[in-house]
Amino acid sequence: MPAPSPTIQLHDLRFRSFMAAETIRARVRHLGRSIAERHSGHTPLFLAILNGAFIFTADLIRACALPSEVDFMRLSSYDGTASSGQIIRHLDVVQNLEGRHVIIVEDIIDSGQTMAHLLPQLQAQQPASLEVATLLLKPGAVQHELPIHYLGFEIPNAFVVGYGLDYRGLGRHLPDLYQLDDQT
Ligand code: IMP
Ligand code: MG
Repeated sequence: MPAPSPTIQLHDLRFRSFMAAETIRARVRHLGRSIAERHSGHTPLFLAILNGAFIFTADLIRACALPSEVDFMRLSSYDGTASSGQIIRHLDVVQNLEGRHVIIVEDIIDSGQTMAHLLPQLQAQQPASLEVATLLLKPGAVQHELPIHYLGFEIPNAFVVGYGLDYRGLGRHLPDLYQLDDQT
């Protein structure tokens, strides 16, 4: 594979290399194994939060050596590089969650608002268990007490793109993660 470029431009902003695909891959494998151990004998239902989590979800379910199902919800709260504070649900889960072992899959928990909004609504459907897997967490930004059962990486409080995460629609296809460059 060609070496990733140290900086990239998306719209008006520059981003610099932050985390290599190989580092992500190793961590996702580890998370998949943890889920398989915890849920041995179950058929978990992975609930991917679109759009950002689609690549992480695809890798995570393949790293988890259990039969599983996957469903999707599409939520948005972000406007450019800042949270709009308002959560819009564009697509809802189809599956009945009652009695299921549900694992919500997020790309990143930033303010935690999306998760804080979603968890009670899903809990009301009486799943057998409800857990959260997130690739990234910004501890410096979280404003809610959240249960996080499977965590990829804690990262500094700067906007990141790549591996499914976007800036105004771009950057999702990048295998590595990039962080907003302060110089821009
Ligand atoms: P929260 O509700 O503030 O926790 O934000 C959650 C959602 O905002 C995430 O699922 C992402 O889709 C988006 N988001 C938060 N931080 C970033 C970032 O650094 N890059 C790209 N998207 C982000
Ligand atoms: Mg997201």
